[in-house]
Amino acid sequence: MIYAVAGASGQLGQLVLPQLVAKVGAANVVALVRNPAKLADLAATGVSVRAFDYDAADPAALAGVDRLLLISANEVGKRSAQHKAVIDAAKAAGVGLIAYTSILHAPTSTIGLVGEHRDTEAALAASGVPHILLRNGWYNENYTGALAPSIEHGAILGAAGEGRIASASRADLAAGAVAALVNGAAGDVHELAGDESYTMAEFAAHVARIAGKPVAYVNMSQADYAAALKGVGLPDWLAEMLANSSYATSHDQLFDDSRSLSRLIGRATTPIAETIAAALA
Ligand SMILES: NC(=O)c1ccc[n+]([C@@H]2O[C@H](COP(=O)([O-])OP(=O)(O)OC[C@H]3O[C@@H](n4cnc5c(N)ncnc54)[C@H](OP(=O)(O)O)[C@@H]3O)[C@@H](O)[C@H]2O)c1
Repeated sequence: MIYAVAGASGQLGQLVLPQLVAKVGAANVVALVRNPAKLADLAATGVSVRAFDYDAADPAALAGVDRLLLISANEVGKRSAQHKAVIDAAKAAGVGLIAYTSILHAPTSTIGLVGEHRDTEAALAASGVPHILLRNGWYNENYTGALAPSIEHGAILGAAGEGRIASASRADLAAGAVAALVNGAAGDVHELAGDESYTMAEFAAHVARIAGKPVAYVNMSQADYAAALKGVGLPDWLAEMLANSSYATSHDQLFDDSRSLSRLIGRATTPIAETIAAALA
């Protein structure tokens, strides 16, 4: 059985690959990457590294692949076409199963980013290629990537209100993807979120405790939060996207209590406090 990972050079892919190699052996793993030079170290370990661009997805790169993990790409607006091209290539190459990293509660989510994931889920259904949906919630790391200025100013801004967030660490979601890819069956749909949930006020309290400094959550309207993000230099599209998902959080769009992820990986998920502590260490 040959397992391929598309998006192998990204942060999620880099956490998936060692776990996949540990499970199935390097000789059975194909890493697909735009620029193979990025994964030269991995090639030296016996993993097959092949050039693969979602914008020009070549079925030849998927020759012999039984199961493909399609990690969603990162250029918002281009992804429906890119993912469709990958699915078409996989079909042409005779790939037996695709596991796709979608978004939590894709059919009902009000998060602006959901459209491309719905398009891809529909393209998978239309393709007839057996598939598994990994509907990933937000990464813990989305909240811990830039804590220094929040601690300095004593404030974490957002539009999330009292909404509860059940985020999971990127490593836990990588473990879930590996488990589903290796042991899952066509038709599986996983809503993948952390075991625990928190409001942004509770998140700020964790940050304050761990940093040993006063930090409070400041709730704003979606428009004011977008303006604040633009004010610190974020591009308009990113500020609007982040403000949209923060506001959607106020309606619990990032909450899930199914505990599917911990069942899939056979252990509890990483608490947000642990990810905060790691980020501040
Ligand atoms: N759940 C969440 O909280 C969350 C947060 C952010 C993003 N996401 C989604 O989850 C995905 C994985 O997360 P991540 O943290 O690993 O993101 P990431 O670090 O940005 O990785 C994205 C990967 O996609 C690859 N890629 C992009 N366009 C491509 C193309 N045209 N052809 C081939 N490969 C292409 C990149 O390759 P290169 O190395 O060549 O650039 C990279 O390997 C993201 O791409 C995004 O769709 C989820």
